[in-house]
Amino acid sequence: MANIGIFYASAGGTTKIITDALVEAFDIDEDSVIFMEDDYDDVEQFDDFDVLLIGSSTWGQGDTHFEWVDPMLEIEEDADFSSKKVAFFGAGDCRKHGEHFCSALGKLYNVFTKAGATPIGFVPKEDYIYEYSLAEIDGKLCGLGIDEHNESDKTQTRVEKWIEQLKKELGE
Ligand SMILES: Cc1cc2nc3c(=O)[nH]c(=O)nc-3n(C[C@H](O)[C@H](O)[C@H](O)COP(=O)(O)O)c2cc1C
Repeated sequence: MANIGIFYASAGGTTKIITDALVEAFDIDEDSVIFMEDDYDDVEQFDDFDVLLIGSSTWGQGDTHFEWVDPMLEIEEDADFSSKKVAFFGAGDCRKHGEHFCSALGKLYNVFTKAGATPIGFVPKEDYIYEYSLAEIDGKLCGLGIDEHNESDKTQTRVEKWIEQLKKELGE
């Protein structure tokens, strides 16, 4: 089984809904769950894992959670993730912030893929209603977005489907 690490940031706990489901589904050890605010020290922490599950809610005008700002700069400066697979997840609000729905996933996608990581876990955009998102790449969303403000009834199914998809893509 691949060595999986979760790195996530969440202000109000919504993104943690996905984190908790991933931890259970992939039986991930607590040392392999890095809450960016408390547990992240430096970019070398990514080296411990073959598969990175990267989470962030979206803030401002399509920004990542602020705890991702410095790590993203560190990755851009000095990281080689060419042997790693990466999947992105996070929470957003498709009505109030539909002009940048879950755009944080797209910003993270750019940084991690530029560092060489292979992205997995794309989802069909047809399951969502929004005006614009940086997470839309080649006609799909580059990761799992959930919206507990407007579409909480869809969260459980979205998360379960995504986990099944990741298991297939990881060959587990
Ligand atoms: C000031 C502010 C800006 C926001 N900007 C965005 C945005 O650009 N795109 C988006 O999808 N959601 C946006 N949101 C919604 C949050 O991402 C949403 O509330 C999410 O559930 C927070 O997840 P968390 O609890 O994991 O931090 C914004 C919320 C606030 C309060």
